[in-house]
Amino acid sequence: MKLRPMPGKTSLKGKHVLLRVDWNLPLEGPFAPEDSLKLDRSHATIDWLSRSGAVAILLTHVGRPKGRDLRFSTEKLARLAHRATDIPIHFLGANLGASAGIHEAKKTIEHAKPGTVFLCENVRFLKGEETNAPSTAKTLASLGDLFVNDAFASCHRAHASVVGIAKFLPSFAGPSLVEEVHGLERLIAKPKRPFVAVIGGAKLSTKIGVLKSLLDTADRVLVGGAMAHAFFKAMRMEIGRSFLEKESVTMAKTLLKHPKLVLPRDVLVATALKSGVPARSVPIAKVRKTDVIGDIGTETMMAWAKELKTAKTIMWNGPVGVAEIPTFAHGSLLLARVIAARSKGPTYGVIGGGDTLPIVMQSGMSEWVDHLSTGGGAMLEFLALKGELPGLIALEEKKTRAASKKKKV
Ligand code: ADP
Ligand code: 3PG
Ligand code: MG
Repeated sequence: MKLRPMPGKTSLKGKHVLLRVDWNLPLEGPFAPEDSLKLDRSHATIDWLSRSGAVAILLTHVGRPKGRDLRFSTEKLARLAHRATDIPIHFLGANLGASAGIHEAKKTIEHAKPGTVFLCENVRFLKGEETNAPSTAKTLASLGDLFVNDAFASCHRAHASVVGIAKFLPSFAGPSLVEEVHGLERLIAKPKRPFVAVIGGAKLSTKIGVLKSLLDTADRVLVGGAMAHAFFKAMRMEIGRSFLEKESVTMAKTLLKHPKLVLPRDVLVATALKSGVPARSVPIAKVRKTDVIGDIGTETMMAWAKELKTAKTIMWNGPVGVAEIPTFAHGSLLLARVIAARSKGPTYGVIGGGDTLPIVMQSGMSEWVDHLSTGGGAMLEFLALKGELPGLIALEEKKTRAASKKKKV
């Protein structure tokens, strides 16, 4: 997908640039390394705008507030981001849901010196944000001369500050958005083979789209975590008191015989998912009624590491165990280390997921991974929809889209 890149420095001078970032971060600092990753990626873009003599007006959502709930205010975030990036970020708290607020915001922006950076109040406080109401998009657009979307993690949301706004202003893809798209496109456009994907996490229902897509594009798909329990259940195996998303068993049944699907051959079980409990590695057939599965087993760890060693492309999303508890984090940590080590070599490695990135950071080898995606849901949908996210379509060079459509016919 060819996205419109941000204009050069000279055409940004004196312009009011609306910059959509994804700073959906915990409001209680300090940031964890994976939170800082989102800020770090925006940092360069903000710095660039500021040095170009533009006035940057940042837009982000935080959490899922129902209306103007000030517990989700971005005010605190402006301070935290200022501290983390060393760029002064002024909070623009005007209520853009009211005409007085819009007027106030416009006045503040008009009087700002070139290079100033503002952060607006949580866009999800606006009534038409999530419904992508044209009036809301128009209001946001009225604050600037052009729109830059640098928020890959929000691109699966057809919201006013992501999609709608692009209809009212010249709109461009920010550098970190372009980097994400390039990083992930290599998984869907002619990946070097063998391509091995690892999918884990709690619920199969949240990953079924990406799983099906990977069963199509990858050569092997290793499925771990509680998601695998649905497959064990579909095979009528005992899973004891392990976490199970019951509704997904039928779904698992339909994929069970897929030749590319690889399930753990053994698992780490204990009597409870608690730190320090004695854990045993047992073949799937040996799981007892009183057991809880907390991780992949030792045989699987070795088999999957071997599998990953032969891969030329690797994608991993979702912990393969309860990685929050050290006793059950070994499988996921091993994956992080093997993938990082392979990425350092000739293999192309991509890792993403809100609960997966902390493990990679913990491994201390995150810098070796070719691409760390800041998109949780966005990365999954990017892979499931083969890149066709609403936020990206809104920034696509029109000519390319028409031409590529023609080609497909
Ligand atoms: P991500 O955010 O990286 O995409 P998910 O949200 O899908 O990952 O899944 C992460 C969650 O899955 C974690 O909270 C982890 O504890 C849970 N999980 C993984 N394996 C198991 C398991 N065997 N039993 C219970 N929960 C598990
Ligand atoms: C994320 O953190 O994955 C993005 O900011 C999207 O958040 P949302 O799922 O609340 O839309
Ligand atoms: Mg998660």
